[in-house]
Amino acid sequence: MMNFNFFIPTKIIFGKGRIGELSENIPSGYNNILLVTGKKSAKLNGALEKIKFLLKDKNITVFDEVEENPSFDILEKGREIAKKNKVEFIIGVGGGSPMDAAKGIAVLTNNEGSMRDYMKGKKPVNKILPIVCIPTTSGTGSEVTPFAVFTDPENEDKGGYANPDIFPVFSIIDPELTYTMPRNVIINTGIDAFTHALEGYFSTKASILNDYLAVHSIKIIAGNIIDAAEKDNLAMDRISYASMVAGIVIANAGTLLLHAAGYPLTVYHKIPHGLANAILLPEFIRFLKRKEVLVEKIEIVENIFESMGGIEKFLNEIGIKTKLSAYDIKREEIKNFVEKTIHKKNLLITPVKINEKDLYDFYEETF
Ligand SMILES: [Fe+2]
Repeated sequence: MMNFNFFIPTKIIFGKGRIGELSENIPSGYNNILLVTGKKSAKLNGALEKIKFLLKDKNITVFDEVEENPSFDILEKGREIAKKNKVEFIIGVGGGSPMDAAKGIAVLTNNEGSMRDYMKGKKPVNKILPIVCIPTTSGTGSEVTPFAVFTDPENEDKGGYANPDIFPVFSIIDPELTYTMPRNVIINTGIDAFTHALEGYFSTKASILNDYLAVHSIKIIAGNIIDAAEKDNLAMDRISYASMVAGIVIANAGTLLLHAAGYPLTVYHKIPHGLANAILLPEFIRFLKRKEVLVEKIEIVENIFESMGGIEKFLNEIGIKTKLSAYDIKREEIKNFVEKTIHKKNLLITPVKINEKDLYDFYEETF
């Protein structure tokens, strides 16, 4: 029971205003830097301008075309730009999408082949560029994980790439950069962080240390997300912190059935990632209860939400409808969702054996 590994090599620089310490943390000798970001948010909240100013002594190339749920094509485009500019160091700024894209581009710049190959098991032979992450949302946890999630529009699929070499060398989590998030993004990304802590807690790779962090994170999110959604800055700071802690939890224990089952909702219905998890969350817990696993852990989590009338009521009260039918999803789609999900590795660390019927019922029960 006490045997476990715990690995998080990323230096964490946490605190308001600490973006100002970016330049001094970049190891000497790196001059050609690629800034990877989205089309809008990093510009709107001023993070991009601030970072460009802080790095005025470096050769900066900005790649600001990353869309929500980055595709393999955007990574190819990023690789070309990185190669052309002889990039040595990559900084991802924004939500999960630009940070994950930064990781993908860091893998591909010096390595042949597409990300699709690497996700199928191909190993990079050349150096992966060093990565720095600067989150401007509070949910993904990508700033402290060895994971990146990509979408394959050709195969209508979404999945994760894992490699310890894509842990950021350092991350600056400056909660002030999250203050311009709109309410729906605060909620969706905050619930994503909650599901990270929860799934890591329920994972077969859970450990006594990781569990402590998971419950710590869940309590902070439960106690602060409502105020954070109202733009209470202290509550937003706490969610930023809890999201980073939840990232550490999944770095060590992974995400489970819930994340895998949410991916088709994003691929086919453009439902934001955190919201997809939130919709399926109550059924995920009911599913585990029906299988009679994790009885004590489920009770611990449910107790945290008891004063709010339970997890589903809590979600409904922050505006999340927890029925697939509320999102124009049809029962006829379940078969395809099951096919897309049944082979995901996330299911292997979910603490119950899941067959196709289980998965079918899982979606069916959410209508
Ligand atoms: Fe997630």
